Amino acid sequence: MKKILILFGHPAFKRSAINAALREAVETLEGITFHDLYAGYPDFLIDVSHEQQLCQSHDIIIFQHPFYWYSTPAIIKEWLDLVLEYGWAYGPTSHALAGKITFQALTAGGDFVNYRANGSNLFTIRELTTPYRATANLCGMDWLPPFAVLGIYRGIPKTERVRHAEDYRRTLIALRDNRLDLIQARSRELLNQSLDAIIINEA
Ligand SMILES: Cc1cc2nc3c(=O)[nH]c(=O)nc-3n(C[C@H](O)[C@H](O)[C@H](O)COP(=O)(O)O)c2cc1C
Repeated sequence: MKKILILFGHPAFKRSAINAALREAVETLEGITFHDLYAGYPDFLIDVSHEQQLCQSHDIIIFQHPFYWYSTPAIIKEWLDLVLEYGWAYGPTSHALAGKITFQALTAGGDFVNYRANGSNLFTIRELTTPYRATANLCGMDWLPPFAVLGIYRGIPKTERVRHAEDYRRTLIALRDNRLDLIQARSRELLNQSLDAIIINEA
């Protein structure tokens, strides 16, 4: 069984609908450590060695967050700036995170029609998250495309929200139990498109 670390960043979690639903679906699963960064570091004073130890004791690292200005909320950027140190995460002889699976689980106000070449946001979610992919690559990590829930601004009905939460749970259980087809998953636009085709032997 693989160990999964979720680094969660939401500065207004009390008002969250979709991240709250995703969180609730996975928080208490066996093998998962859910780490709320804004709750843990309200003053942004990130404990770098604690975070590095947490990363080293897990096999899969997920950044879960709402999409803010085509990127992450500030604490995740701060976490990356401080924790991914030269001589630990990268450098000629340093690769503490090498081989660990990583991806973003993000939620966004815009919908698919906005996130495309001729849409209002000009680029796809996969394109807009390339800095994160490049970061993972520099650290020798095994990057997967984002698990993305789009269209929050159109108002997601409860049934759809429940389905996304269930898909998140299924994805994490499959990854934890080595039942996700990683080769197929890597080539996906988003991790949660056609999940049935990449989850192996689901009970
Ligand atoms: C400061 C800020 C920036 C945002 N930037 C984006 C953005 O760049 N693209 C987008 O689609 N939605 C954007 N949104 C919408 C959020 O992504 C959306 O409200 C969030 O995913 C909803 O999740 P929640 O219910 O967990 O709060 C932004 C919202 C805020 C408050």
